[in-house]
Amino acid sequence: MARNVVVTGGGTGIGYEVARRFAEAGEQVVIVGRRRAVLERAATDLGANVTPLVCDLADPDAVEDALAGLPEQVDVLVNNAGSRETVIGAGPHAVLARWRGDFERNVLTVVMLTESIRDRLTQGTGRVVTVSSIAALRGAGSYGAAKASLHAWNHFLAAQLGPSGITANIVAPGTVAGTEFFGPRLDDAEVSRRASRTLLGRIGETGEVAAAVYFLASPEAGFITGEILHCNGGELLGR
Ligand SMILES: NC(=O)c1ccc[n+]([C@@H]2O[C@H](COP(=O)([O-])OP(=O)(O)OC[C@H]3O[C@@H](n4cnc5c(N)ncnc54)[C@H](OP(=O)(O)O)[C@@H]3O)[C@@H](O)[C@H]2O)c1
Repeated sequence: MARNVVVTGGGTGIGYEVARRFAEAGEQVVIVGRRRAVLERAATDLGANVTPLVCDLADPDAVEDALAGLPEQVDVLVNNAGSRETVIGAGPHAVLARWRGDFERNVLTVVMLTESIRDRLTQGTGRVVTVSSIAALRGAGSYGAAKASLHAWNHFLAAQLGPSGITANIVAPGTVAGTEFFGPRLDDAEVSRRASRTLLGRIGETGEVAAAVYFLASPEAGFITGEILHCNGGELLGR
């Protein structure tokens, strides 16, 4: 039977590839994001079993409103939506905006949705996969700190869901091309610089991260929980 899958940030980049993998496997997929046009285009491209749902996951009112558009039973939740706050500056207002922004965009987006639909996760086989970042291990200021807090939270979540047979895992990508994440900052020179930090001599592709997510969401991955799967070309060893 087709599983019900929710992919946040499924309109672009890594999330789009994740949604594509599930859709091609015949699953029912809801993709969540803030931009209606982007989601509708992605859903049209991906096929009839993909449904767009507009929601700013950092806004509790929007999350509450979106609950009616989500499946009553969720087999797989992929918490992929996130972004890096671009406010710069050293004064307290800029620091607060940057830290609060990164926390809201990368942590609250994940936690508010997951906690809100926790009771809908399928007993015995449910899967939660959350996308963090190599930045959680190597710094990157407020963004890295926000992603690192997902690692701590995921362990707590896995402990809570474990008795119900539901797993909760993290995929932590290194630099990945073909997304909107970096915008124009990821030029050729920056790609070369980042590629040279990996053991493979290249940056990653969206499909490679999607494959890691897809595996952790599979029935075969039922004995893996509370784990962090690093997908970074050997740039940094996992811990
Ligand atoms: N690309 C990389 O090198 C890299 C490396 C490590 C980790 N990551 C992580 O991978 C994940 C996916 O990023 P990506 O690289 O694929 O970039 P992306 O193309 O910018 O994808 C992010 C997606 O999240 C959605 N989103 C952002 N904030 C949201 C919110 N408040 N509510 C609902 N949807 C929201 C965006 O859609 P809307 O703008 O329409 O809302 C977009 O579709 C992120 O968590 C990112 O931190 C990326």
